[in-house]
Amino acid sequence: MPKLTLDSAAEHFVQSTVLRQNDAEWRLHRRFVHIVLSQAAVKQYHPVQEDLARRLCFSLLTHPENFNADLRLFSGRVVIAVTYGLSVDTADSKYIKHADATMDLKEVVVGKQMIEDLITAPFEHVERDMRDGSAVPSLTQELLSMEKDDISDFEQSVKWATGSMYGAGAESARLFDLSVGRTYATLLVFVLAMALHPKVQLQAQKEIDEVIGSQRLPGIADKAQLPFVNAVIKETIRWRPIVPLTLGRRTSQDDIYRGLFIPKGAMVVPNVWAVAFAANERYDPQQFLPERFLDPTEDVVDPSSWAFGFGKRMCPGKALGENSVFIAITSILWAFTISPPKHGSLNPKFTHKLIRCVP
Ligand code: HEM
Repeated sequence: MPKLTLDSAAEHFVQSTVLRQNDAEWRLHRRFVHIVLSQAAVKQYHPVQEDLARRLCFSLLTHPENFNADLRLFSGRVVIAVTYGLSVDTADSKYIKHADATMDLKEVVVGKQMIEDLITAPFEHVERDMRDGSAVPSLTQELLSMEKDDISDFEQSVKWATGSMYGAGAESARLFDLSVGRTYATLLVFVLAMALHPKVQLQAQKEIDEVIGSQRLPGIADKAQLPFVNAVIKETIRWRPIVPLTLGRRTSQDDIYRGLFIPKGAMVVPNVWAVAFAANERYDPQQFLPERFLDPTEDVVDPSSWAFGFGKRMCPGKALGENSVFIAITSILWAFTISPPKHGSLNPKFTHKLIRCVP
């Protein structure tokens, strides 16, 4: 991690996974999250994600104009349900609003306390539920049930490793909004892409109709049978990369890359934008063309190999995040058609922060 200058509230976040240096505590966080977020481990959360995608569709049906807030709520609910096993009602009323307020904080003194509450309150909720035997499976519950022999401040480490998942990785400008913001931003880009590309949307819906039909709702297990929908998702990620420069890192030793000397301590910023927009004669990188991923004669880089970062710091929530994006997108395409506004024109704008978003 490069040295960052943070205000005093944000300094509190240095305990979170994303801002920690490569130290023993960071390695412990990574060990914890690997146990609970591996490709195999996240299978147990499919039913939770499917249920939340259905609730998302129900909200969209009731008030489609609120799609922006609903997509954010869906993304937050998944992470909080998986991290703490809290029901939608408890999560919404007690924690989601608090997390959003914390991420928007301007006032530093209030901020520190809010951050502490944000990671402590849901953690203590799980501890209480475990004591009275009512805890449902969650990342926190699973980690707290582990053998803790050689770990000195075990509870504190679990608290920050899990707290980093939901909002605790976010500082005031949402620069480090790890899980919720990224799932949400990806879904917003998808809505924009569908509003602008009705033919693509129709083709994806046809595939869903053929494979799933109208008698049941989509599930995460349908993924392998929906190649065009998967190509739409890959193109959504490539077309407007939401973390165009991912996060910078500092070299731990002198290095030479393709003849270029990189001294120890240099800050290296991966430019995923350059990968996403690599020149291609047949498939213009500026255009939204999912078929580029289905053409066996094309050597296209799969965005899932760069959208989640690189090396030791690669996103540990990749498998969970990909499943959330898949089930939300497939359920929306199954239930709705996204169209541009009837009156006026579509005028998308992106923010200039590390995570780009359609406001
Ligand atoms: C579509 C969804 C997501 C995208 C696109 C995404 C992307 C990323 C990226 C680009 C990084 C920086 C990696 C690097 O520095 O090389 C990252 C880090 C991280 N992500 Fe995700 N992420 C997503 C979902 C999630 C979810 C659902 C979780 C947790 C439940 C999560 C937890 C984290 C954590 C803890 C880090 C920090 C890792 C570290 O510094 O060691 N992410 N993510």
